[in-house]
Amino acid sequence: MSIKTLFPTLVYVAPLQKAAAADLNRRLERECIQLASDDEAGVKWSARNYPGGFTSYGSQSRMHTVSPTFAALEARLDRHVRAYAAQLDFDLTGRELSMTDCWVNIMPQGVVHSLHLHPLSTISGTYYVRTPKGSAGLRLEDPRLDRFMGAPPRKADARERSRSWVTIPAERGQVVLFESWLRHEVPPNPALSERISISFNYSWY
Ligand code: NI
Repeated sequence: MSIKTLFPTLVYVAPLQKAAAADLNRRLERECIQLASDDEAGVKWSARNYPGGFTSYGSQSRMHTVSPTFAALEARLDRHVRAYAAQLDFDLTGRELSMTDCWVNIMPQGVVHSLHLHPLSTISGTYYVRTPKGSAGLRLEDPRLDRFMGAPPRKADARERSRSWVTIPAERGQVVLFESWLRHEVPPNPALSERISISFNYSWY
């Protein structure tokens, strides 16, 4: 007998760097908090689109081009994205994967980020800056879900690979990468204080 695993959904999880990550993380955290108080357009955009939280997605969505600290993050993320692309067997001959968007998300207790994907990008991901105890993770949806018309439900103790939803825990200093077509959400954040993350898109040119 042989069982093949075909058409897998690869999700990449790794610490941003092995050592000396604390200093960069501290600077990123400071800039994220500063941005949330300076970025009036972002505060307005968040009030309409991200109730209770702050995101610079609608205002400052290319932070790697305006802040040297975020540019330093980009340089480190590039290596992870290359390693992930190699695992995906992407043929990037004559092209390059590069960061197109990079924005800040601050989620106080109870704030939600509903189910979405990142249209027209290639690889998306998140770097976790601050994750107080109990912070909500990143919940990923099986991309084949809308075709499971006659499929039975999965056992409560089903292996991770068989589940329709898998949550990747949010951990400070960690990078999570996924293909941009994969739908994901952040359920209501149960942590008592703010969860801070930086999300980004890469595209191939
Ligand atoms: Ni997203």
